[in-house]
Amino acid sequence: MKRRVLSLLLGTAMVSSMLVGCGGSGDAAATDSAATEDSAGAESSGEGGTIGLAMPTQSSERWINDADNMQKQLEAKGYKVEVQFAEDDVQQQVSQIENLIAKDVDCLVVAAVDSSALVNALAQAKEKEIPVIAYDRLLMDTDAVSYYATFDNKGVGTKIGEYIKEKKELDKAKEAGESYTIEFFMGSPDDNNALFLYNGIMEVLQPYLDDGTLVCKSGRTSFDDTCILRWSQETAQKNCEDILTANYANEDLDIACTAFDGFSYGVRSALEGAGYSIKNTDSKVWPMITGQDAELMATKNIIAGYQTMSIYKDTRLLAEKCVSMVDACLKGTEPEINDTEQYDNGKLVVPSYLCEPQAVDKDNYQELLVDSGYYTEDQLK
Ligand code: GAL
Repeated sequence: MKRRVLSLLLGTAMVSSMLVGCGGSGDAAATDSAATEDSAGAESSGEGGTIGLAMPTQSSERWINDADNMQKQLEAKGYKVEVQFAEDDVQQQVSQIENLIAKDVDCLVVAAVDSSALVNALAQAKEKEIPVIAYDRLLMDTDAVSYYATFDNKGVGTKIGEYIKEKKELDKAKEAGESYTIEFFMGSPDDNNALFLYNGIMEVLQPYLDDGTLVCKSGRTSFDDTCILRWSQETAQKNCEDILTANYANEDLDIACTAFDGFSYGVRSALEGAGYSIKNTDSKVWPMITGQDAELMATKNIIAGYQTMSIYKDTRLLAEKCVSMVDACLKGTEPEINDTEQYDNGKLVVPSYLCEPQAVDKDNYQELLVDSGYYTEDQLK
């Protein structure tokens, strides 16, 4: 691998790496300081180095898009890319990462299946001075991680909470002494994002649960009671079926507060199975259903009325921020960092860039998703 390392730049890079922690890689850059060949313009030749991309699964559409965006942007900068999907299998992801390390990739970008299960594999990366960047999900309990590119995960939760609060006019309902029933379907307990999101939701909704404006008939409001391992659509459906049977025989569910588009598909099936219909023809009124990721299917469901809203996370932007972190580790540049406080992984507070999530529904999907080129009109037909 040829690296462009100007000595002046190197000085800055080493200082910045000490400050924001591109640990092992800073040393790697130093050992390579004699190599002065310019790899700029090495478009897609792989001369910028090889980046190993470990992704959690192809079962939800976003990770395929994430990998695709990352690959395109990295290749445009002259990097070679090796993508691996672990299909939500923890051991498979460990092996894939070990393989990438054995192949001497120059940098690892990891979106973990289980955020705490990669400690040993990542220690091997550190030993070989391969820098590691956490993608979307924080890598826990490891000092091998240099940077974290993600969305404001608590912000995702507050946006979902605010949406429910505003659209259901909870303050007005409270004044009028009215209430809405609500059930929660939260993310995976082995994904650090899930608790952040839950906390964001509860920051907005807990007061309304406390004063009775929101009524959770199942009583399942804690994170432990509502989290769903590996973000499984099937489990969300099963949980919703059980909750509807046990608690909603005589009353409608008004709000399904879900943390993921996949859950909203499961909830939709459970509701249909229990006699709800978007036509609202019989006694059961279709509830407000939230989600996250603005997947293509979710967006179609929003347009058709099966889902009320989602959280749009522009994965093109996330890829861009992550690529700048790869550059920082390998070329000694400065990545953009906007959070150095929130993401403590148990070993260090990881310097992070948090992209901004946005709530999307039938009123603004055109502007947010179509006009921005995220989806085409044709895809949404
Ligand atoms: C989370 C991610 C969400 C969603 C979920 C399920 O880590 O932040 O956007 O994709 O995984 O895949």
